[in-house]
Amino acid sequence: MNNPFRFNTLRPSDPFCDREKELSDLISHGMNGANVTLFSPRRYGKTSLIKRAQKEMHDKGAYVFYVDFYRVMSVEDLASRLARAVYEGLGEYVSFFEKGKKALLDFFKTYRPVFTPTEDGGIQIDVRASEGISGYDLLESLLLEIGRFAEKANRPVHIAMDEFQDIVEIDKGKTEALLRTHIQMHGAGYVFAGSRRRILKSIFTDRHRPFYNSTLLMELPPLPHSDLVNYIVGLFAKGGKSISAEAAASVSTLVEQYPYYAQLFSYLLFGMGTDPSLDDVAECFDSLLASERYSYQGIVDGLTPVQLGLLVGLAKYPGSKVTSQSFLKETNLSSGGVQKAVKHLSLQDLICDEKNGWELVDPVFRKWLIRMF
Ligand SMILES: Nc1ncnc2c1ncn2[C@@H]1O[C@H](COP(=O)(O)OP(=O)(O)OP(=O)(O)O)[C@@H](O)[C@H]1O
Ligand SMILES: [Mg+2]
Repeated sequence: MNNPFRFNTLRPSDPFCDREKELSDLISHGMNGANVTLFSPRRYGKTSLIKRAQKEMHDKGAYVFYVDFYRVMSVEDLASRLARAVYEGLGEYVSFFEKGKKALLDFFKTYRPVFTPTEDGGIQIDVRASEGISGYDLLESLLLEIGRFAEKANRPVHIAMDEFQDIVEIDKGKTEALLRTHIQMHGAGYVFAGSRRRILKSIFTDRHRPFYNSTLLMELPPLPHSDLVNYIVGLFAKGGKSISAEAAASVSTLVEQYPYYAQLFSYLLFGMGTDPSLDDVAECFDSLLASERYSYQGIVDGLTPVQLGLLVGLAKYPGSKVTSQSFLKETNLSSGGVQKAVKHLSLQDLICDEKNGWELVDPVFRKWLIRMF
């Protein structure tokens, strides 16, 4: 039997743990044309949830589009990604609806689709802008077209913009303002999602910025412990193996209900055999740390010594007031150095400011740091 656990973004058909309230809220806001900002730490399930919500909206008759702005490099790149998302989204409906056909034709006045065969026998679709037009003009014309389409469509239109915070990297706010100007007039529902929470939140909660107060904020928490335990027990059974509720609870607790780690840990544990003991779980946790080693080393390699010192300090003393005498003494850091490092690490969403003080966002990375340093 195949391993039933998945640690890539979940397909709508994959078993899903909880998120029932978030799913139904996303769907009802989307169908009503209300905009939502969805945020959480990395690998908490934002994309999986959006895909699921869009699948259900699609099945209820909405037009749905999904675009990922991860590391978007320029306004041209942004416009091209949005164009491709619209093109791919509309392509699905085009053989059924004349309306879609007309929209596609309009669309190709500005954008030229490029089809390239791939080595595995598939086709890659790229969308290139027509020559000689600036990225901003292209983006604007595309947004106008989306607006027109949403107005004429006799059904809800839903557009998901994933890793939305990355748009702030491409210019000094011009794209942000342009998007806001058009989106506020669109009769479509948008979801803006992202994992760099400080940057994403400030787009929507800073009163001096164009998107201020324009969306409902939705934060994904860790998975509920008891649902996660049932989920793990259920998937073991589905895969033809068993696990005690006690061992599944230990998995959930060790990863602090972090969705990605819960899946990866369960995947590794499932591979070890049936009915794992608590000792097997503890042993498997080492394999989990080993499998994440390269990604953690990559993060650490990108930090200055002061940033790393602060991160390790917070791993060992979570909830610290970072400028307190005791913390500075423990970590051998200076107050000035710490303040700059806090800013950097929190912008990267490596640390967050909880009620009791600063702590690491990722509980497994935290345990790895403690072992390493
Ligand atoms: N509801 C859920 N039930 C079970 N597993 C989940 C759930 N949501 C997410 N996961 C697991 O979490 C992992 C991350 O999911 P996903 O890619 O959707 O997260 P994300 O928040 O979009 O991540 P990123 O910030 O990297 O874009 C996946 O491995 C998936 O298996
Ligand atoms: Mg994602």
